[in-house]
Amino acid sequence: MYILSIETSCDETAISIVETKNKTIKVLSNIISSQIKLHAQWGGVVPNLAAREHLKNILPVLKKALKKAKKNLPEIDLISVTHGPGLIPALLIGTSTAKTLAYYWQKPLLGIHHIEGHIYANFLDTKNCEIKFPLLALVVSGGHTQLILMSDHFQYQIIGETQDDAVGEAFDKVARILNLGYPGGPIISQKAQEFSKRKELSQHSIEFPRPMLHSNNFNFSFSGLKTAVLYQVKKLEKENVSISSLQPLLAYKFQEAAVDVLVQKTLKALRKYSVKSFLLAGGVSANKYLRKNLKEKISQEFPSIRIFFPSLQYTGDNASMIASAAFYRWKSLPTSKRKTLFQNWKKLKTEANLKL
Ligand code: KG4
Ligand code: ZN
Repeated sequence: MYILSIETSCDETAISIVETKNKTIKVLSNIISSQIKLHAQWGGVVPNLAAREHLKNILPVLKKALKKAKKNLPEIDLISVTHGPGLIPALLIGTSTAKTLAYYWQKPLLGIHHIEGHIYANFLDTKNCEIKFPLLALVVSGGHTQLILMSDHFQYQIIGETQDDAVGEAFDKVARILNLGYPGGPIISQKAQEFSKRKELSQHSIEFPRPMLHSNNFNFSFSGLKTAVLYQVKKLEKENVSISSLQPLLAYKFQEAAVDVLVQKTLKALRKYSVKSFLLAGGVSANKYLRKNLKEKISQEFPSIRIFFPSLQYTGDNASMIASAAFYRWKSLPTSKRKTLFQNWKKLKTEANLKL
């Protein structure tokens, strides 16, 4: 079957067309129009500006996705769209487009949770058909930091989550403190890598805290870590130390502290819950240092657990991950239920705080 998916929950206008067979998903097109440059001047995403850009871009992106996939709308068997969580003005452009297409072409329509999409980005890779349940997923994005147990497809139990900032948000805020621009994740990790390559022993012995590392649960907190970076920068400025020369060191030390907490909490969860697979998901999953540390530490302590990372082109927001989740949801539905999806063009709701 052919699935057309739309994702507009934040600052990427994304449409994908995939072809599915039995167990495999072939991505025919994965078009992403990013608004990063527009929002960079504000230091973060401005919801109404995002919506205006989505509106401008959605039809050209749709045309491009169809052209690349060499498909026409009548050939599509299922439409799916992110219906939450996210910025309401942004989400509405995607859901309204999906509902209009579903109504006009009389297609079944499925609403997908954005984080479910990130998790299912792991299933896009054919070798990831080997993903076995039960599994533990670590979701790390700009809006979420969660440890989620899955006993089977779509059976979620959130066992831990951030009590304040998401880890991606902390990367973005620290980048702003260090004058590194937006989004912060890629630039912080690049600066940190510069530092680790130089292997220079700085005269500044800076260490940042690991919030909630020893708490008796699987929750996280990243707001205090970000504030510790801010206080450190203020202290250095008072001492007339040039921050720009210390950007790589500060980026490295921040990343080290954030990743340490993510890895240690993951190991703690794996000690309590017996699982067959571990998945990483969300925009921060592109971080090489995080991947390396998770892989090393998990395989050392739990050699039998299979470790999966999404391929780099599907770590950030994209619509192929939404198509992947839609495919597995469709497969799980009985025929009678599938028929009701033809009415979804009038029923589908957009929710800013949609729960998994
Ligand atoms: O999943 P995503 O694309 O959007 C949300 O659902 O939030 O995640 C975006 C987040 C941003 O905070 C961005 O700074 C972060 O992912 N990010 C990274 C890296 N690439 C993107 N964080 C750390 N290291 C990276 N390489
Ligand atoms: Zn996302």
